[in-house]
Amino acid sequence: MPNLVVVGAQWGDEGKGKVVDLLTERSDLVVRFAGGNNAGHTLEVEGRRLVLHLVPSGVLHPGKQFLLGDGMVIDPGALLEELDALAGAGLEVGPAVLRVSVRAHLVLPYHRALDELREGGASALGTTRRGIGPAYEDKAARRGIRAGDLLHPERLERRVAAALEEANLRLAARGSRALELEPILAGLRAQGARLAPHLDETSLAISRALAAGRSLLFEGAQGALLDLDHGTYPFVTSSTTVGSGAPLATRRVDGIIGVSKAYTTRVGEGPFPTELVGAAGEELRRRGREYGATTGRPRRCGWLDLPALRYAARVSGLTALALTKLDILAGLERIPVCEAYELDGARLPDGAFPADGEDLARVRPLYRELRGFDGSLAGARRIEELPGAVRDYLAMIEREVGLPIALVSTGAERQQTLIRPEHLS
Ligand code: IMP
Repeated sequence: MPNLVVVGAQWGDEGKGKVVDLLTERSDLVVRFAGGNNAGHTLEVEGRRLVLHLVPSGVLHPGKQFLLGDGMVIDPGALLEELDALAGAGLEVGPAVLRVSVRAHLVLPYHRALDELREGGASALGTTRRGIGPAYEDKAARRGIRAGDLLHPERLERRVAAALEEANLRLAARGSRALELEPILAGLRAQGARLAPHLDETSLAISRALAAGRSLLFEGAQGALLDLDHGTYPFVTSSTTVGSGAPLATRRVDGIIGVSKAYTTRVGEGPFPTELVGAAGEELRRRGREYGATTGRPRRCGWLDLPALRYAARVSGLTALALTKLDILAGLERIPVCEAYELDGARLPDGAFPADGEDLARVRPLYRELRGFDGSLAGARRIEELPGAVRDYLAMIEREVGLPIALVSTGAERQQTLIRPEHLS
């Protein structure tokens, strides 16, 4: 099995969980490399529905190892809650299975308080309110608290005290109450005692796995259009969501798979050229059951946006696409797809994706309509066996984005997936 990176090619929620779960079967070591508990995916364990935010999607596969990498921000309480929920469902995820980087940053109570406070104000971005942005801000300001600090009580106290002083100034400036140091430290001591056996030098685990010829899977979070550098700034998350975030010399990566729905969704604020408002948007949301896994918010829905997908392919360095939720479009007579944008009356050239959100919010999507297809996707075992109109839809995407489709998902079940292994690397 090749070394693969899987990232979102839209605004997150593309169905990466299912793709990663399937590819985990073929991998030895799974590494999540960025983001925190703003992400979310749902798992069925022994008939119980569990929503995981930090623990990687493939955790149900026995005999694999999972790493939470250097670039992540980890809320220690949230991680322990997930481990407890998994244990409650009969799945003990011990330190040998889940390793957590000593270099990952921690999300602390003052980060959540700051996120909440800002989201209540006029400049809300529609974040998940999990404290992700403020934790990455502290990291960039060089006052972040890292998971490795949990192993050194004296350093932890000193560093949290200094960071809290700053955070309390920011809270006070917005008229909010200061947080007290001692309860935060008490919480961290208890959490640290439980997490200590999981803490590790994860880059060493990665290079040892490579040297031993084991195969790696790097799991991205969110999607290219939410990337801090390349996304629809400022309506983005605060981390790297594109392929380059994977901590591995690029020559060791065999493929970067971008996951895209057969249509588009977005949660939170920000421009969304193909958004359907009113009844048409409601209808797509109802069909696709489009509600956020982390916050339960209804997702904004729209048609597939090829200029955005081409852009995502470019900035993520994609080598192939995985197309999910194709079944949701079954039964439509015609399927509109945005093939280009028009801005101020002129068609934008191929490859253009406006950098400024105010311009992107003003573009007019130019649609092409494709033949719809009926509900008979279930019988196909290979992509080549899908109905002609579906193959036309897939071929159009491959041609327009300039990438092969390596995987197609036609339903929630594992077996409702058609893979072309030759395009995975
Ligand atoms: P934050 O990551 O919570 O700071 O939120 C910033 C933006 O990213 C908001 O628009 C969120 O809705 C969006 N976002 C963060 N995580 C996810 C995700 O896993 N799926 C979809 N959108 C997300």
